[in-house]
Amino acid sequence: MSRARAPAAGLKMLAQGSPDAEAPAVISVSLGDRSYDIQIRPGLRYRFADAIAPILTRPRVIVVTDETVAGHYLAMLEHQLRAVGVAVDSVVLPPGEETKSFGHLETLTARCLDLGLERRDTLVALGGGVIGDLTGFAAAVLLRGVAFIQIPTTLLAQVDSSVGGKTAIDVPAGKNLIGAFHQPARVLIDPETLNTLDRRQRLAGYAEVVKYGLIRDRDFFEWLEINGKSVVDGDRAAATKAIRTACAAKAEVVARDERDAGERALLNLGHTFAHALETAAGYHDRLLHGEAVAMGMVMAFDVSATMAWSTGQDAQRVRAHLESVGLVTDPRSIPGLTLTADTMMALMRNDKKVVDDRINFIMVRGIGDAFRTADVEDGALKSYLRSILN
Ligand code: NAD
Ligand code: GLY
Repeated sequence: MSRARAPAAGLKMLAQGSPDAEAPAVISVSLGDRSYDIQIRPGLRYRFADAIAPILTRPRVIVVTDETVAGHYLAMLEHQLRAVGVAVDSVVLPPGEETKSFGHLETLTARCLDLGLERRDTLVALGGGVIGDLTGFAAAVLLRGVAFIQIPTTLLAQVDSSVGGKTAIDVPAGKNLIGAFHQPARVLIDPETLNTLDRRQRLAGYAEVVKYGLIRDRDFFEWLEINGKSVVDGDRAAATKAIRTACAAKAEVVARDERDAGERALLNLGHTFAHALETAAGYHDRLLHGEAVAMGMVMAFDVSATMAWSTGQDAQRVRAHLESVGLVTDPRSIPGLTLTADTMMALMRNDKKVVDDRINFIMVRGIGDAFRTADVEDGALKSYLRSILN
């Protein structure tokens, strides 16, 4: 059967059926005494406090959020928590990647200490990956470690950054270079919070959804070929199913490889290329992380085909799907960016995935079958990059 076959009829039926039929609303991340659950339900925002209060060791939380998210969801969360007897303070930070900095870590931790934070108190991260990463890191170091709960409100954070305990800030030497593994006590996801998120951010997060299909779940990719547009458009059932499937995949990988010693690296499909593009673009709004990941995943499929590990048909199919929902896959479309193959090679060599001078890539044998390798030939890589960049 051709790899580029049309989606199976059964999947079309699934697309119309209940998303709850196969993807559970509560997913467990099994990590011994650090295990926690991820709850994913439309409308959960009206019941957040019911999911938070029972796991507090003291009825006191500090909610950390950004100005934009605060405008939509903070008052509701504070009101609910107070109604069930939980004392609440809130810290509202500016939105944007710049908030993941030493400066804001200092502001946040100082504010928590001023508010009299105690060891048994809990931080609540309400926002996207920026707020989640910063709050998680603050929780890891405050008083040598306090509990925190993730309430992710971007698609990227709901399918990736809120699960797995990677926390960090950015420093001039690079993104996410100062951080800690610190697992949340619970992750609460209401897919309907995506209704207030702008379409560009939803699209960027969607690239990370597709990633799970490409790494290890061809059926999910085929489901996305039919339903991806609905996910991006904020269709309640489609978004819920996609988030649950993605979280279930991430939970399994994290449970097997919490500290990123092996399998977890597969979650970086496309990321070595993406980080090089983001660095070249100056971590600027003209290229969001997920947008770079979409381009990077296509590059990983193209290079895998060049190395004869997979077929060019699969690469074309991935490109076609990403473009069909509105993602751009051609790096030459990044506004104001001129990038040569040599510069891109140099940027990739600076990535933290270089070991003994060899770049560790995630490559594919096909859709749903990713693997890690340091065997991509420099010559093949450079001539591919020349063909798409120069
Ligand atoms: P973000 O947190 O900057 O959010 C994007 C924008 O959307 C912000 O302006 C925010 O205010 C706004 N926003 C958030 N939720 C909203 C909502 N529901 N309605 C309206 N506006 C809303 O960006 P992001 O894409 O969520 O996260 C990016 C960060 O995640 C990066 O720093 C990246 O390094 C990190 N990340 C971490 C991991 C991990 O495993 N820890 C994984 C992937 C990415
Ligand atoms: N986002 C990659 C990871 O959590 O490992």
